[in-house]
Amino acid sequence: MPRVWIDTDMGFDDLAAVLTVAAAPGWTVEGLSLVAGNAPIEVVTDNALRAAAFFGWTMPIHRGLDKPLAGDLVTAQNILGEDAMKSAGRGLPPARAALAARDGVSALADYLAHAPQPATVLALGPLTNMATVLRTRPELAARIGLLMWMGGSAGPGNHTAVAEFNAAVDPEAIQQVLDASVPLRMVGLDACRQVRVHAADAEALRGIGTERAEVLADLLLGYVRIASPDGSAPMALYDPTAAAALVAPTGMQFRPAHMVAELQGQHTRGMTVLEWRVPRRAAANVEVASIADEPLLRRVVLDALALTARQ
Ligand code: BDR
Ligand code: CA
Repeated sequence: MPRVWIDTDMGFDDLAAVLTVAAAPGWTVEGLSLVAGNAPIEVVTDNALRAAAFFGWTMPIHRGLDKPLAGDLVTAQNILGEDAMKSAGRGLPPARAALAARDGVSALADYLAHAPQPATVLALGPLTNMATVLRTRPELAARIGLLMWMGGSAGPGNHTAVAEFNAAVDPEAIQQVLDASVPLRMVGLDACRQVRVHAADAEALRGIGTERAEVLADLLLGYVRIASPDGSAPMALYDPTAAAALVAPTGMQFRPAHMVAELQGQHTRGMTVLEWRVPRRAAANVEVASIADEPLLRRVVLDALALTARQ
């Protein structure tokens, strides 16, 4: 039975990604470690605990690091709202599940140390927690069978002209993860932009008629309205595309590349620089998502939300 640990800066698309894995037949989410990114760690933690109470999650939830390895935290609250959930109506109800006592970095390290098989980690935010684990416990790199990361881009950025948000928040963390030589699959912006949701998808969800359906529909509609305020344009599914590609691997093609994170450039800091001429110019250190099967991955995500709404 496949098991996964999820490291997340819980905004709405992170939530939809967790629900996608949780609803996948046979898959178990073993724990969540939280990281600052979409919003400060207090907000991210609040979101995760509210989601856990509302959706009945039983996995432990651990608060992780509150700032990137270098510099100040930059959040996405200017786009996603104060709560990083940008609901078009009611948000998650206020009831909260309990936070696990252990911090997110130690909990993730413990999981890697004791997972019974090469571990799978799905990372949906800046790689701050993972980089810290690998820097302080380098022997744990060998315990990772797959690190699937939503972040980076093989084309344009979204936070800057060339940097994707998760990459821009903590490029030093990306480089430390690359230096640790773990099996890394990057699902970047260009891959996620092939998989899109529409306002009509939110209304179809609402049609299920439960309280969960109403909340999820409002959240999904708020998310779609990031692309255009009237909801007429489709919105790329970011974190859920990585989650769907994990549980439905035929839905995404990957290409090997050699990657470095740009740490210096005045205009390019946070860029994920890809050398495709592997192994001729450099040894591959990442597999990069390239071509998505949009109908399949969309269906995996929307079916998971619908299943959740019906429960
Ligand atoms: C990524 O940035 C965050 O805002 C999303 O949750 C996603 O992880 C997309 O660039
Ligand atoms: Ca995220």
